[in-house]
Parts: sequence; C-alpha cells; structure tokens
Amino acid sequence: MPEHFERRVADYQQRVDRRLGEALPPADLAPLRLHEAMRYAVFNGGKRVRPLLVYATGECLGVDADLLDAPAVAIELIHAFSLVHDDLPAMDDDDLRRGQPTVHIQYDEATAILAADALVPLAFATIARLDAASTDARNQLVRLVADACGSLGMTGGQSIDLAAEGATLDTGELEHMYALKTGALIHASIVSASLLSEDLPAEHGEALDAFGRDIGVAFQIKDDILDVEGETHIIGKPSGSDEKLGKATYPSLFGLDASRARCDELLQSAVARLEVLDRSAAPLEWLARFIVARGQ
Ligand code: IPE
Ligand code: IPE
Ligand code: MG
Ligand code: MG
Ligand code: MG
Repeated sequence: MPEHFERRVADYQQRVDRRLGEALPPADLAPLRLHEAMRYAVFNGGKRVRPLLVYATGECLGVDADLLDAPAVAIELIHAFSLVHDDLPAMDDDDLRRGQPTVHIQYDEATAILAADALVPLAFATIARLDAASTDARNQLVRLVADACGSLGMTGGQSIDLAAEGATLDTGELEHMYALKTGALIHASIVSASLLSEDLPAEHGEALDAFGRDIGVAFQIKDDILDVEGETHIIGKPSGSDEKLGKATYPSLFGLDASRARCDELLQSAVARLEVLDRSAAPLEWLARFIVARGQ
C-alpha cells in the first residue's frame, strides 16, 4: 500500500471513530452497563474496512465526505452487532475478538445480546438524521442497509452458516452463504456511496455493484484462510475456530490452494470492474488488494 494511501486510511479510520463516538450514547448515561457494553463492542480495534469502502467509493465519485459519515457509521454499527452475536455461545462460541475478551465474556450473555440489539436501531436512526441528504436518498439508504442486514442478507447468511456446520456444500452454495453473511454489508458499503452520488452513469453504478459483490466474497474467503493460517495473537480471534466447529468453509471443503486461487480470481475480477471508472477508482483498487493481502 503506498504511503499516501496509508495516511488516508488512517485519516478515515479516525474520522469514523469520531463519528461513531458521537452517535453512541455516552458511557456515563444510564443504563450504564448497556451503554458501556455498546461502546466496548464498537471501540475495540476493528479495521473499519466497511467505512473505508464507503469513504473510498465516495471519494472516487466526488461525494462530499460529510454525506458519507452516516452510512459509514450505520454499517459499522450493524457490523459490530453482527460480531457480538456471532461470538455468542449459541453461535461460534468465541471468547476473543480484536485481541480482547468478547462482549459476553467481558460483561455477560444478556448484556451482550442487548448491547448488540441496541446497535441496530442506532444505525437506522443515524441514517434518518442525515438531514443534508434528500428524503429520497435517506429512504434508499435505509432500504439498502435493511436489506443487507436482514434475512436475505447478513442474518440469512449467518443462519445458513449455522445450518451448514458439518455439511458439504458445493462452491455455488458456499459462495451464496458468503455473499449473504459477509458480502451483503460490504456490497452495501460501496452502494451507499453510489446512492449519494448525483448523475452517476448507469455503467459506473453497475461496475461498483459488481466490484462490491466480488470483494465481499473474497473478504470471507480470506477470513477463512486466516482462521487456518493466522496466529491468534495476530488475528485477534481464536485461530482454528472454524475447524473446531466443523464450519463449512472454502479451506475446509476445497483446500488452502484453491481458496487462495479463488480469492485472487475474485480480486482480479473486482479490479477489472473498476476500469470503466478510470484512475479515480485507485483508492478502491488499493482497498481490494488490502482485503486479499491482509494478515488480520
Ligand atoms: C470479521 O470482519 C467478520 C467477517 C465478516 C469475516 P472484519 O475482519 O472486518 O472484523 P473487524 O471489524 O476488523 O474486527
Ligand atoms: C462471520 O463470519 C460473519 C458475520 C456476519 C459476523 P465468521 O464467523 O467467520 O467471522 P469471525 O471469524 O468470527 O470474525
Ligand atoms: Mg460465524
Ligand atoms: Mg465467528
Ligand atoms: Mg472467521
């Protein structure tokens, strides 16, 4: 990643952290334990990939960054909610996340469930408060994020993931699950910025849509590779968790070599989609490369 790009990434990470801090209820507001747990779930060192995709897409399309804060915050809040539930004993039963105890370990299961629950309405309220956007744009953003989070998006994918433990899926079924559980929010991050762009040529919108789908699936394949190859202290979550649970993953079903090859193929496809946008799409290309090359 070029140095100037790393600097921009750090700037956007700080920016979204600031906005997340403003959106979340203060930790000293009652109910204290709930508000503390919500902040703990959000502020424990995430990479902020989804907000970075929102800002990078917006930059590429010339959308004012002030308009991008709301979808960046909303999607990160939904992502944080999904992680808290994903780690619960009823789901992946993991005790480490981002190098720290998971929310149900640090607090308790009921608090973790409630803290995650409360992040969801906060996400939609953040979009509803985006006064600088038109009513139409706000409505479209709400529908986009709702669809990405619901039973035909992330939640549906998580349900398929649980049902697939111990099962054998073909590549189509596996990638469908990935597209839902992980791809939907990543795709929505990109499309949220497209929605806020005025006069976007249809072919540019279609290219970004397809780019989002490719990197969404690549993101989960890389996550699964890291679950096998990564060390717990580097990935910040328990290495080998998928194998322990008999998860249906790309590495477990098709091996590490095929997983790496598919990840690279999706990266090439994603980058090729950006050609129509010319050089303005460079930040998105760098993020796509980061997603596939990352070590955590
Ligand atoms: C982890 O997502 C969960 C998946 C969808 C694979 P990230 O790798 O983006 O997690 P954080 O937010 O950086 O911790
Ligand atoms: C989770 O996939 C995707 C979510 C929607 C949270 P994983 O279960 O592989 O995510 P990690 O590895 O726990 O972050
Ligand atoms: Mg899971
Ligand atoms: Mg998990
Ligand atoms: Mg994983």
